[in-house]
Amino acid sequence: MFNSAAQAATGSGDGKAIFDKNCSVCHSIMPPPKNAPPITPLASRYHQKFTTKKDGVNHLVAYLKAPEKNKAIDPQAITRFGIMPALKLPDSELRTVAEWVWDQYNPNMGMGRGMGMGQGRGMNQ
Ligand code: HEC
Repeated sequence: MFNSAAQAATGSGDGKAIFDKNCSVCHSIMPPPKNAPPITPLASRYHQKFTTKKDGVNHLVAYLKAPEKNKAIDPQAITRFGIMPALKLPDSELRTVAEWVWDQYNPNMGMGRGMGMGQGRGMNQ
């Protein structure tokens, strides 16, 4: 299938589809949380801790594969929600979704995200 409508400039359409399928059971994008911390504040933490997307995404992928308390960006989240289960997704999908998570950072958090960018929400199956 050729899903060009959902491919934003960064290609985040794919990441969003992977998120909807594999992550959204536990994670909301914006607060309030479901069974895990929402993605937008997590993305902010990643941007605080890592200066380059490459480093941030590498850490994300490693964490998604094998969550460990001493690697967590937010150890308090583990106290509150329990540790995240390891995800059995192919590396390429983990990387795509990790890049999408990184891109959810919004310096004006609370003011809405990517409005007016025609993200085609919910159009990927
Ligand atoms: C079964 C529920 C569940 C699913 C499914 C799940 N998560 Fe999580 N996730 C959690 C919980 C609980 C935490 C908080 C505790 C922790 O950090 O381990 C968490 C933490 C995280 C963190 C913070 C990691 C860090 O460095 O501390 C990120 C990023 C994340 N999840 C992304 C994802 C993505 C992306 C997916 C899908 C590919 C996903 N999660 C699927 C439950 C889930």
